[in-house]
Amino acid sequence: MAKRIRVGVNGFGTIGKRVADAVARQPDLELIGVAKTRPSFEAEDAIRRGYPLYVSGGGDRAAFASAGIATAGTLDDLLSDVDVIVDAAPDKVGRENAALYRAKGIRAIFQGGEKADVAQASFNAMANYAVGHDKQSLRVVSCNTTGLARAAALIDRSWGVESWDATIVRRAADPAESKKGPINGILPTFQMPSHHGPDVRTVLQDLPITTLAVVVPTTLMHVHVNRVRLRHPPANAAEIARTLAASPRFRLFRGWERVEGTPQVMEFARDRGLGHNDVMENVLWEEGIGLHGADLHFFQAIHQESIVVPENVDAIRSMFSLAPNAEASMAITDRALGLLVEGKSIPAR
Ligand SMILES: NC(=O)c1ccc[n+]([C@@H]2O[C@H](COP(=O)([O-])OP(=O)(O)OC[C@H]3O[C@@H](n4cnc5c(N)ncnc54)[C@H](OP(=O)(O)O)[C@@H]3O)[C@@H](O)[C@H]2O)c1
Repeated sequence: MAKRIRVGVNGFGTIGKRVADAVARQPDLELIGVAKTRPSFEAEDAIRRGYPLYVSGGGDRAAFASAGIATAGTLDDLLSDVDVIVDAAPDKVGRENAALYRAKGIRAIFQGGEKADVAQASFNAMANYAVGHDKQSLRVVSCNTTGLARAAALIDRSWGVESWDATIVRRAADPAESKKGPINGILPTFQMPSHHGPDVRTVLQDLPITTLAVVVPTTLMHVHVNRVRLRHPPANAAEIARTLAASPRFRLFRGWERVEGTPQVMEFARDRGLGHNDVMENVLWEEGIGLHGADLHFFQAIHQESIVVPENVDAIRSMFSLAPNAEASMAITDRALGLLVEGKSIPAR
């Protein structure tokens, strides 16, 4: 068997712990260790899962020791032992860490909380898988951008996009966060258009997309309200629903499934029981796809905590040329994660 790529994860919070689990399940990757600054229940969980734990960001090994949590070394030690580091530290800390990775000559994957120029290219598997080949650094775009980029890549290749307007209804905080809001109220984002459209164009340069955003008091998921003018509209909305449902990383709920909104999506996720009860797919409703002339209207829900997880795995595979194309990489990733793979394919152009 070919040598597996050795991966470290720096930052073991919402995204980092999920990426670590996903990496550990891949046949061609090896999780060498994870790093965080302070002891916590998550640090203890890393040990329980068998992940060597390293201390990063000026953290103190003695603080871990006094909590009874064994550490394997510092971030510097971890970096000496990996081919690539996935940085999942808080927003803007990744940029500070980038200098460390460069000094060590270690390839790095950053997250969407960093500005695009933190890395040589921004990445989304469905939109621009090949961009990663031989890059030293990549940035996996944010949760909202990932959801939009996946849908746009698919819809553009199937029917052509003349224009795309999206309103992003953003969750106020992740479920584990207790210091963010609002807890009552709807906050318009006064940056108009919002930053999401330009961010989508870091992976789909020519997409004519404009976005607005509002923040609402929920923690479960984001919802996108989309109007897309198609260049070559299909005969009916059912064809669009069929195409999206048959594509990897899309989950279409039928009317009879009685999924009215994000609460039932998350209940479905709890019942399905993938790691952390995640939903890594773009979530669509059959009844939430309408075609009116050339105008496609559709809703999609995005599980912000997990949608970028498979993309991080594909970014590594692209960087090290471990798979011939997006479809092949996504199939390996998704099979290992327990997502539906059989019968799924990306439509040909
Ligand atoms: N959460 C989302 O919805 C979401 C979605 C997509 C992308 N992202 C992006 O993913 C990145 C990580 O976000 P997150 O939500 O996972 O944040 P998070 O939950 O706050 O986790 C960040 C982790 O990094 C650790 N950390 C703090 N300072 C560090 C340092 N100097 N070096 C290494 N680790 C450090 C934190 O724990 P300790 O302080 O205890 O070490 C924590 O474990 C951000 O760029 C974010 O924008 C987040």
